[in-house]
Amino acid sequence: MIILANDGISEGGKIALQNSGYDVVTQNIEQDKLIDYINQNNVIGLLVRSATKVRKNLIDQCPNLKLVGRGGVGMDNIDVEYAITKGIKVINTPGASSSSVAELVFAHIFGGIRFLYNANRNMPLEGDSHFKKLKKDYSAGSEIRGKTIGIIGLGRIGQEVARIGISLGLNVIGYDKFVESIVVKVGPFNGEYINIKIDSTDFESVIANSDFISLHVPAQKKYVIAKREINKMKKGAALINAARGGAVNETDLIEALEKGQLSFAALDTFENEPKPSIKTLMHPRISLSPHIGAATVEAQERIGLELAEQITSLLGKE
Ligand code: 3PG
Repeated sequence: MIILANDGISEGGKIALQNSGYDVVTQNIEQDKLIDYINQNNVIGLLVRSATKVRKNLIDQCPNLKLVGRGGVGMDNIDVEYAITKGIKVINTPGASSSSVAELVFAHIFGGIRFLYNANRNMPLEGDSHFKKLKKDYSAGSEIRGKTIGIIGLGRIGQEVARIGISLGLNVIGYDKFVESIVVKVGPFNGEYINIKIDSTDFESVIANSDFISLHVPAQKKYVIAKREINKMKKGAALINAARGGAVNETDLIEALEKGQLSFAALDTFENEPKPSIKTLMHPRISLSPHIGAATVEAQERIGLELAEQITSLLGKE
């Protein structure tokens, strides 16, 4: 039985699948050749990350496909409901990458409050000729302790952001359409954990009272943050989007950065991914990363193992 891991799989995940008797192909097949490849090679399981799309046409034209697995959280690249109606099992790994995404959020925040994203651009160019000027330019940094982080979306990743935030001495507030409150387990301190309850408060007060606003929402049809919301934010607040492109209106974001309404923004996901706008990429107040929230060795290993476990339990061993 052949499993095609079209966007890759960790070595541990591959070995676990092989131990269950599957042949695992990790070659990346281009989107327009995928249907033929699946049919010609009798692929029964297709594993993807966010790059490969599994739309209705593929599902219709691959009648022998038994399972689609998303190594990660967001399923917006898969027609999930449709696949299920065709008898295909669809799985993902919703909890395996939360720490990695949350840590990336704080990497951007720590980098942002000390201008590291911009210092790293300018030091190679002017560090030897204008050192004193650059020192002055980046001298008004700030500390994280005592500030407020507002988390929009209190699912697994939002909760992990809350946990790290509390540990760093931030005030944590949050909003979620579907969740009333969360309990965050912080520690261990001398082997003990402390449970901290955070109530979901209203969206408007989260955006109005936060120094850092971090989005943790699935793919959206409408912007979560555009001009109206940005204008309600604290002057000098920072916005982080490591959730999905399209949650933030980048044109409005750039305008707000230029006016000084926001001090900086951090984007790991982009409106026009995988070809973000040059204006966004070139902006000196945007800290950038190329959708790498879940891209740590540890998260990918957990994802691979979890996929292998689910596949073995759903499709059995060879
Ligand atoms: C996810 O939804 O799991 C993340 O956005 C990661 O996407 P990736 O697997 O393409 O890195």
